[in-house]
Amino acid sequence: MANEARGARGRRFAESLDPDAAELNASVGFDWRLLPHDVAGSIAHAQMLGRRGILPAADVERIVTGLREIGAELAADLADLKDRESPLDSALEDIHMNVEARLSARIGAAGGRLHTARSRNDQVATDLRLYALASAKKLMLELDNLRRALLAQARAHVDTLVPGYTHLQRAQPIRLAHHLLAYVAMFGRDRARMEDAAKRADECPLGSGALAATTFPIDRNQVASDLGFRGVTRNSLDAAGDRDFAVELVMACALAQAHLSRLGEELVLWSSQEFQFAKLPEAYCSGSSIMPQKVNPDIPELVRAKTGRVFGDLMALLTVIKGLPLAYNKDLQETQEPLYDAVETLDICLRVTARIVRGTVFDVDRMWKSVAEGHLVATELADYLASKGIPFRRAHDVAGSLVRKAQSRGVELVALSLEELRAEDPTFDPDVYEWLDPLRAVDRRDVVGGPARNQVLAEISRLEQELG
Ligand code: ARG
Repeated sequence: MANEARGARGRRFAESLDPDAAELNASVGFDWRLLPHDVAGSIAHAQMLGRRGILPAADVERIVTGLREIGAELAADLADLKDRESPLDSALEDIHMNVEARLSARIGAAGGRLHTARSRNDQVATDLRLYALASAKKLMLELDNLRRALLAQARAHVDTLVPGYTHLQRAQPIRLAHHLLAYVAMFGRDRARMEDAAKRADECPLGSGALAATTFPIDRNQVASDLGFRGVTRNSLDAAGDRDFAVELVMACALAQAHLSRLGEELVLWSSQEFQFAKLPEAYCSGSSIMPQKVNPDIPELVRAKTGRVFGDLMALLTVIKGLPLAYNKDLQETQEPLYDAVETLDICLRVTARIVRGTVFDVDRMWKSVAEGHLVATELADYLASKGIPFRRAHDVAGSLVRKAQSRGVELVALSLEELRAEDPTFDPDVYEWLDPLRAVDRRDVVGGPARNQVLAEISRLEQELG
């Protein structure tokens, strides 16, 4: 259909778009996510045009009412698409043109005035920033939820000892609470990164036009504040082509997802027959089609694996913006899917992980037994000697030979007699056996950030204050 006025092409074109080109060009298959932001942005824009006398009040009234109705209808239609076709028309390219076309169909000529003093370039930049802000907020809530789940388990396991590992080898005894609090700290940093990314997304680009702002006497600050932005962007060229806010949010998602993969990995390990430290709630496991005894930790495995996808989103985003000349280029449309994918992937992974953590049952006895095997208190022997004036290097050597001695006899360090200890170094006294008690060993690590009981309790209280 030549010369059609559908979509954004207008009457300039004699040829209609090639069907494959149209498919490639359309973003409505994913940018429907911008619907609420697009409607809000258009309402704020129209109201400002009215206040500035750029549009007649009666038209603004019609536009705003129409947008509200269309926004609600489309949202309802999009909410449950399963058996229905999308209400959006891909021939109209994107969500912006779909909303505008519907508006004009409903209210007539006034609908065509909405795009006064605006371009889809500053429009999509605004919508995406609103999406990024809403997403950061949602992800921060989910991160806190997960942190609360970890914290509740920490509170329940202040007095459970577990081996602390380095190189996945039993290293030193710690409290299970301390282990869990490590993740609370990690996800706390992720939350802070989301908050930080949101700060820079929080500027309204509307008014930047296609690239060179607008000739109309608009009030950018009014629109920004109506939309809840902290301020306005300062350069129209930059603002129309800037997707840094998306990159920053996806970077924060990628690191949070990496942290989730570490937790997922530990849940997989800890629920294995080899460790038997944890029983995962069955709602997050599946069975084997052949081996009836299997309970596989599919969901933590998938959480672990989804990380690759979110890293891919970050790389895709960075690659899209690399080398782009100022200002808007259609390439920028390709920043949308990685952004949505990273946000949605992290969101669901956070939600399920929080529930898995809440429902996990730790095998306290098994953990205690593991603490007692493998010479986890060898460092205590060295510390004991060092505290009595032996240079630490020598103390470390002595403890090393004692571990060898114990290993050759197939016993733990506590089973060595005082004579055997003294044969290596005469400094040992009977009080050394107190040092070899794992619980005391943990509680001597009484420094801020350490696993001693009072330190862990203080940290739990501090975090309970923070997380409410
Ligand atoms: N769907 C487009 C995007 O996501 C909207 C902006 C289109 N602008 C343009 N000049 N073609 O980037």
